[in-house]
Amino acid sequence: VSERVPGELMAAEIAEQPDVWRRVLAESGAELDEVAARIRARAPRFVLFVARGTSDNAALYAKYLVEIGLGLPCGLVSPSTMTGYGAVPDLRDVLLIGVSQSGGSPDLVHTVRVAGQQGALTLAVTNDPGSPLAAAAQLHLDVRAGVERAVAATKSYTAQLLTLYLLVGRLCDNGSAAEAAAALPALGERLLAEDTRLAAEAMRYRFAQRLVCTARGYSYPTANEAALKLMETGYLSAQSFSGADLMHGPLAVVDAALPVIVVAAAGVGGDSMRAVLPTLRERGADVFCVGTEEAVAAGTGGLVLPGGVPEPLSPLLEILPLQLLARHLAVARGGDPDAPRGLRKVTETT
Ligand code: F6R
Repeated sequence: VSERVPGELMAAEIAEQPDVWRRVLAESGAELDEVAARIRARAPRFVLFVARGTSDNAALYAKYLVEIGLGLPCGLVSPSTMTGYGAVPDLRDVLLIGVSQSGGSPDLVHTVRVAGQQGALTLAVTNDPGSPLAAAAQLHLDVRAGVERAVAATKSYTAQLLTLYLLVGRLCDNGSAAEAAAALPALGERLLAEDTRLAAEAMRYRFAQRLVCTARGYSYPTANEAALKLMETGYLSAQSFSGADLMHGPLAVVDAALPVIVVAAAGVGGDSMRAVLPTLRERGADVFCVGTEEAVAAGTGGLVLPGGVPEPLSPLLEILPLQLLARHLAVARGGDPDAPRGLRKVTETT
């Protein structure tokens, strides 16, 4: 049996993403049409998501899609209200979507089950059609990422983003949504080709103990997900803030000893980071920026995203260099991002 190289599973799964997206685009159409038709028939007035960890970041991304694209109010459920406090909220006219790679965490299953009993239409978005969450929900969408073996979720995250994007695109009757996504796999490959550069960039943060990630709008979930990947694989304390929230107090922690990762893609979210970037630099922070040419030039380093990508699709691309950065940083710090200390692939919370 050959020795496993630390981080090799995560590296392989990061690299697989463009092919996963091709598969989702090629194979998910009929399932998405059916689920969209069932949702339309119920005409929900409100959308709720329930998820944990990386899947919670995918749910937050979808919250932007629903609020902006669908024009419906949307929220994230706190599972303990139902699992711990025994709440049985009135969920008539609600579409409740559980997002989970494994579909195995008992709190998500309980929430989806109670929601169905309380009048909600329930949908599970998972990477395992045979999972308890898929069974508990009335509708299911398979994100088709293929088995994910590294503990740190990567390909399942962007497969969730793409599946949720395509679903909301159908619900908005936006026929061009899927067309726009067709360009993603080739653009993803271009970004993944920067692996060697990101390995070098990671060395700058080798001894960092804390770090802040920030972005706004559709990219805010990217900042959250980058922070989560850095924490679970590199064991550094990484906090994520919306660019607006950062200015309301947390900015005080930023100084020359605190690296900041900024995501500032083309669009409304990136534009609103324009005022934040110089403020971070004035405080002497090292600013690694993933975004437009202009935004990267305003930082101390970073990576320019391909142009011409509609803002709602940008999160699929933004996270790729940050996944690579997290993996390289973890390995440089002596860790194994495939099997971070104290974590298992399926986390069961109640
Ligand atoms: C992060 C990670 C965890 C999971 C979380 C939810 O890389 O693996 O944060 O995302 O435990 O797991 P699922 O999606 O299986 O419900």
